[in-house]
Amino acid sequence: MEKFIVHGGAELEGSVNISGSKNASLPILAATLLTKEQCVIRRVPDVSDTNYMLQILQNLGAEVERASGTVIIKCEKLRSHEAPYDLVRKMRASVCVMGPLLARHNRANVSLPGGCVIGDRPIDLHLRGLEGLGAEATVEGGNVHLEARYGLKGDTIDMSGKHGATVLGTDNVMMAAVLAQGTTVINGAACEPEVVDLADMLNAMGAKITGAGTSCITIEGVSELGGVEHTVIPDRIEAGTFLVAGAMAAKSKITLKRVNPEHLTAVTDVLESCGCKIEKEEDTISISKAENPIGANITTEPYPGFPTDMQAQMCALFALTPGISVVTDTIFPQRFMHASEMKRMGADIKVDDGTAVINGVEKMSAAPVMASDLRASAALVLSGLLAKGNTEISRVYHIDRGYEHIDDKLIDLGANIERLPANA
Ligand code: EPU
Repeated sequence: MEKFIVHGGAELEGSVNISGSKNASLPILAATLLTKEQCVIRRVPDVSDTNYMLQILQNLGAEVERASGTVIIKCEKLRSHEAPYDLVRKMRASVCVMGPLLARHNRANVSLPGGCVIGDRPIDLHLRGLEGLGAEATVEGGNVHLEARYGLKGDTIDMSGKHGATVLGTDNVMMAAVLAQGTTVINGAACEPEVVDLADMLNAMGAKITGAGTSCITIEGVSELGGVEHTVIPDRIEAGTFLVAGAMAAKSKITLKRVNPEHLTAVTDVLESCGCKIEKEEDTISISKAENPIGANITTEPYPGFPTDMQAQMCALFALTPGISVVTDTIFPQRFMHASEMKRMGADIKVDDGTAVINGVEKMSAAPVMASDLRASAALVLSGLLAKGNTEISRVYHIDRGYEHIDDKLIDLGANIERLPANA
């Protein structure tokens, strides 16, 4: 287990290339199970979550080649319809092989992922959707077994849950429905850009999907899908994280390249309201720090609202912004592990019932802190960039799950970060 030493007092400037989206790549890689033909997926970020997904696919019988962001997958024959606990426990998103396995094999056996530090993370809506297409789901020995004895049949399915739509649940049902008989209508579908990217790839494989990006998706089943070449969309959460780094530590300005500014409107709107200067072009965004920064009140919501995956990073910004800011997470109300660690660095944050009240302090000071999940780790790195002294962040494998070489990218912008073995 490696750790970071983040030397405080960073001043960042220059430009950074944003990687392909982790959260779009995971279901897209799973969707390659839907065809016997070769799929070429470009701009897959080199992070441990995409590596776990490729291990799962190989375990199911896929042939995989990977070279600098391009992954070539051919799944001519499925060796198995099982995703075992050993692999699933490493990454919750492995549940998105359920839909493709069911579509290709009429059955799937996938270990239940269990909870994680950001919350309970149930899959009831995934199962409700797949049952709506004719699969029977049974849970035994920690595994969910799905079987569509008479094949999958299209139907009208309501996927909305009490916390709004489910992203991977929508993906799973969409991937199962593309090869089902007849037409499926998903009401209460997630509208995230990652769902649209998956639908675009499936359509390029021969699927007939309309309405992706709205809460009602219609899928006309086809009998088979072919191979595809697809480029994954830019990672809006990595981009948002670098925008917050700029809001906290820009010397003059930093520029993000290879982004889709439209996907980041909720984040850039809040940063502008805090006083930052934002300039957008077709595929770049630049940010300059606010001269007189002010805080904000934000509430996470499904897309196009403010993303829960940017909540922790905003807490890091508000911890050092004068005045009171209030951050509410309606999607994952328990996702505030970063707050306790940031308090050890001198932040003034009170968390109650899914809401953090942050009273900005003038300085935070370095302390040994522990990364607890992907975005919480990012918030600790951001806090460390500005803290007085050297912040030691342990368990950085959490950050390597979803950020491609974040230390190198920040170093290129002028930060001073060391990656060391845990016992150094
Ligand atoms: N939910 C249910 N039942 C379900 C599924 C979800 O009640 O069957 C609830 C969840 O508990 C949560 C809400 O619905 O309150 C939304 O969860 P969702 O299913 O949309 O989450 P997900 O699809 O499992 C993806 C991202 C997460 C991101 C969420 C929300 C991937 C691989 N993961 O997860 O990303 O936080 O959508 O936008 O796409 C991250 O990248 O750090 C991350 C956690």
